[in-house]
Amino acid sequence: MTIGIIGSGAMGAGIAQVVATAGHPVRLLDQNAAALEKATSSIATSLRRLAEKGKLTPEAAEAAVARLHPTETMADFADCGLVIEAIVEDLGVKQQVFRGVEAIVSAECWLASNTSSLSITAIAAACQRPERFVGIHFFNPAPLMQLVEVVPAVQTRAGLAEEVKALVASWGKRPVLAQDTPGFIVNRVARPFYGEAIRILEEGIADIATIDWALTDLGGFRMGPFALMDFIGHDVNYRVTESVFTAFFYDPRYRPSFTQKRLFEAGYLGRKTGRGFYNYAPGAVPPTP
Ligand code: NAI
Repeated sequence: MTIGIIGSGAMGAGIAQVVATAGHPVRLLDQNAAALEKATSSIATSLRRLAEKGKLTPEAAEAAVARLHPTETMADFADCGLVIEAIVEDLGVKQQVFRGVEAIVSAECWLASNTSSLSITAIAAACQRPERFVGIHFFNPAPLMQLVEVVPAVQTRAGLAEEVKALVASWGKRPVLAQDTPGFIVNRVARPFYGEAIRILEEGIADIATIDWALTDLGGFRMGPFALMDFIGHDVNYRVTESVFTAFFYDPRYRPSFTQKRLFEAGYLGRKTGRGFYNYAPGAVPPTP
C-alpha cells in the first residue's frame, strides 16, 4: 500500500521514516520546499545511522530511502491507500487539506490525521466520505516511540479502527484504541503535568531545573516537564493546551498559562529556536537544581 503523508515537519518526517522502513512506498508532501528537502535528507541520515548502529541492515536502510518520494503536488497521491496528515494544528486548514485530498484519491483510500488535540469527528465532517476517516496519533519522535493512539470519529465505519490498528501494529508499533475526546489519552494526562509544573514555577515554589531534576531523578520520568515542553516546541504545546482547554468547555484543570503564552509570542519555541525555558545557545550554562 502506498502511503501519502502531508506535512514534513517533526512528525510527518518521523512517520514517513516509520512507514518507509515497514515497506510502504511513501509520498511525502509539504507546501514548503525547504522543509521537504530538510526532511528528506534527515530521514536518509537517520536510516543510515540506524544501519551503522546495526539496528537495520544497510540494504534495508537504502531500500527505505528509495521508497521515499518527496513531492509538492497532491496529484502524486492518486495511488495512495492511506493518507496521513501532519500539518499545522488548525481545524480549518486541516479540513481544507482533506477536501483537496479527496479530490485526488480513490473512494477506498483511508484518511487519517495525526492531530494531538483537535476533534477527529470535526475534521472528518469536512470530508465527502467521513466513514473512511480515523485519527492515527503518533508520539515524538515517531521512529522511537512505540505508542500510537488510533481514534475513530463518530462517522468512522464499524471495523475500520481495528483494521488500522492491525496496520499500525505491522509497523512494529503498539496501537491502542482511544475515543474521540480532547487530548485522547496521553495529551489529556499531560496537560496537568505541564500546567502544574508551570504553576509551581510561577508561584516561586521551585525553579525549572529543580522541578525537572525532582521529576527525573526521583519521579522516574525520562524528561522533566520543562525539558519536555522545550523538546515538543511551545508553538505546538501552547496550541494543544489552548485547544484541550476550549474543548473541555473551559475546565480550569486544563487552563493554559501566561508564562507559556509569552514564550510562544516571543518565538522562544524551545530546542528548535535555541531558546525556551532553557537556553540552548552554544556556550550557555545550563541552570542547576
Ligand atoms: P511542524 O511545524 O514541525 O511541521 C508541520 C509541517 O506542515 C511544516 O513543514 C509545514 O510547512 C507543513 N504544512 C503546513 N500547512 C501545510 C499545508 N496546508 N499543506 C502542506 N504542508 C503544510 O509540526 P509537527 O510538530 O510535525 O506537528 C504536525 C501535527 O502533528 C500537528 O497536528 C501536531 O498537533 C501533531 N503532533 C505533534 C507532536 C509533536 O510533539 N510535535 C506529537 C504528535 C502529534
